[in-house]
Amino acid sequence: MIAQTLKWVGGIDGFLELIDQRRLPGEFVKLQCRNIEQVYEAIKTLAVRGAPAIGVVGAYGVVLGMQARDEGRGMRDDLEWGLCVLAKSCEYLASSRPTGSNLFRALDRVRQSAQGFVSSAPGAKLQALRETVLAEANAICQEDVDMCRRIGGNGEKFIKQGAGILTHCNAGALATAGQGTALSVIFEAHKRGRKFKVYVDETRPLLQGARLTAWELEQADINVILICDNMAGWLMKQGKIDAVITGADRITANGDAANKIGTYSLSVLARNNNVPFYIAAPSSTFDLSINSGAEIPIEQRPADEVEFFGDRRVAPEGVDIYNPAFDVTDAENITAIITDRGVIERPDGEKIAEHLGKQQ
Ligand code: MRU
Repeated sequence: MIAQTLKWVGGIDGFLELIDQRRLPGEFVKLQCRNIEQVYEAIKTLAVRGAPAIGVVGAYGVVLGMQARDEGRGMRDDLEWGLCVLAKSCEYLASSRPTGSNLFRALDRVRQSAQGFVSSAPGAKLQALRETVLAEANAICQEDVDMCRRIGGNGEKFIKQGAGILTHCNAGALATAGQGTALSVIFEAHKRGRKFKVYVDETRPLLQGARLTAWELEQADINVILICDNMAGWLMKQGKIDAVITGADRITANGDAANKIGTYSLSVLARNNNVPFYIAAPSSTFDLSINSGAEIPIEQRPADEVEFFGDRRVAPEGVDIYNPAFDVTDAENITAIITDRGVIERPDGEKIAEHLGKQQ
């Protein structure tokens, strides 16, 4: 069974329900976000993570932001005030995590739909503006579900009978509103009756591979083998890996792709060992306003994520720590990008522009 990572419950006065990914695999607990601060906190602390999921959750976060009351005057009913709350909500949520493009695209969409509504119906009630924002968030959510399914359908052919597949971090259902990106490809191959092994990097420091991907693949009854990150090269050299497939948080106009720290090293190892390296990502992950990966902001995470392994200190107190959460894989190391629209073989600027048309 595929996990349902997030769900909006109720109408415009409703709330957001998330699987609390900080507690997996030990506990399966739902988290209710009833205000925008709780959404911000959930994103920041990785209760919800994965670029597409963060985008959808961000859009619902704005809906929660717009449930705010105007102190002392109750719920004001003017659109100008509504747009002002919306702008502040977007700005606040945009400051949660910088690397993935899906959050910024979702917030832009919500902002644009609200502005479009206000220009077309200047005398409308605030309630109607809030309805518009919820409808846009629902549309973003549904589109993510559809895109995930299509990515799987477009990429399943790359998972051959008897293959050994390597993945990194978690690009599964838990990282999206649907059935994932890289794991969607794997789920679709499995559905078609193919037998293969999936090697999962544990993904230090926060172990999204060990905690989340291994859990998701086991739930789906797929043959999963967990390895430490530093074992990947040796497995490739031994001929155990036929393809590497990961997700992405942001793909630039030239095809460079940011993903969880460690992905770049895998791409170099794959290239050196003649192993195809695939990225699976929805159209919402592309950022054509940026020319190359050098311009992608890379999130720096707190030192304690490296200093401790869970609750246990594993480094001397006071040691300097560097903890970038993402790295960038050069387009030239990518065999193909699998999207909801098809496959971009040996991606470059021209092929990406053609694939996406004039989407941005
Ligand atoms: O820090 P995280 O867990 O949010 O990082 C997630 C990843 O790097 C995923 O691979 C990426 O978001 C693609 S998920 C469909």
